[in-house]
Amino acid sequence: MDAIDRGRHAGAVVLVTGGGSGIGLATALRFAREGAHVVACDIDETRTGALEAAFREAGADGVAMVADISTQAGVDAFVAAAVDRYGRVDVLANVAGVMDAFLPAHAVDDATWRRVMSVNIDGPMMLTRAVLPGMVERKAGAIVNVASVGGIRGGAAGAAYTASKHALVGLTRSVAWYYALDGVRCNAVCPGGVRTGIDSAPRDPAHLTGLAPIHQAGRRFAEPDEIASMISWLASVEAVNVNGAVIPTDGGWTAG
Ligand SMILES: NC(=O)c1ccc[n+]([C@@H]2O[C@H](COP(=O)([O-])OP(=O)(O)OC[C@H]3O[C@@H](n4cnc5c(N)ncnc54)[C@H](O)[C@@H]3O)[C@@H](O)[C@H]2O)c1
Repeated sequence: MDAIDRGRHAGAVVLVTGGGSGIGLATALRFAREGAHVVACDIDETRTGALEAAFREAGADGVAMVADISTQAGVDAFVAAAVDRYGRVDVLANVAGVMDAFLPAHAVDDATWRRVMSVNIDGPMMLTRAVLPGMVERKAGAIVNVASVGGIRGGAAGAAYTASKHALVGLTRSVAWYYALDGVRCNAVCPGGVRTGIDSAPRDPAHLTGLAPIHQAGRRFAEPDEIASMISWLASVEAVNVNGAVIPTDGGWTAG
């Protein structure tokens, strides 16, 4: 998909998490090609170099850095990098996320639960908390959270992932409502299956049996840029009246 509006985000300062792979990579490159100053992070240092190179290849301004958004130190360093260089943050795209090996509630271990929660909901919360004061002060800002079909139904993933994405939907609605009159919008996209590098192996294939009726009903796998295009639109002025929306981008999967 290549319907790029090169002026859509001209001069905007955009934070993208998980920019080294999949939806985050597509989102970072799309915003960059649409004129934004993109500051992207990833926990995987082998991926940020390639992202910097991709920015240059696209002839775009953009910074890629290593940061772990599940820690306050990582969040602070990431936001500081954008503010030091560009003076503000206009858009936050919370894309980074991890899966949970499809562990149902009786089988989930503490380490998996904590890791999934820390990346999928603690990180977006800490980033949201960091960028809101500046957005409220300027009366302008857009936050787009990448949730999942697992954020609106129970049968798509394991217990930790499902709970974390439902929490992200709740955070989205809370921020949308509370800051609506401050010029800040917050929305969530809920992808179905997307062709990315995300680790989607079950720890025990037997755990997939209970999810099979939902999984078999999936309509199509999307390409990462098909999600990035929705993120870009939600962050743009064209979506000025869209706030607190939780939008499936799943080819119709949740329609059934
Ligand atoms: N792929 C799918 O089918 C699908 C479906 C629904 C929702 N999603 C969601 O889309 C988002 C992006 O996933 P993807 O499929 O592109 O996965 P991906 O694994 O291809 O990319 C995610 C990136 O996030 C990075 N990351 C992980 N933990 C991090 C941390 N603590 N700090 C910074 N970066 C970190 C990873 O290194 C990776 O590069 C996730 O939130 C995921 O839950 C994906």
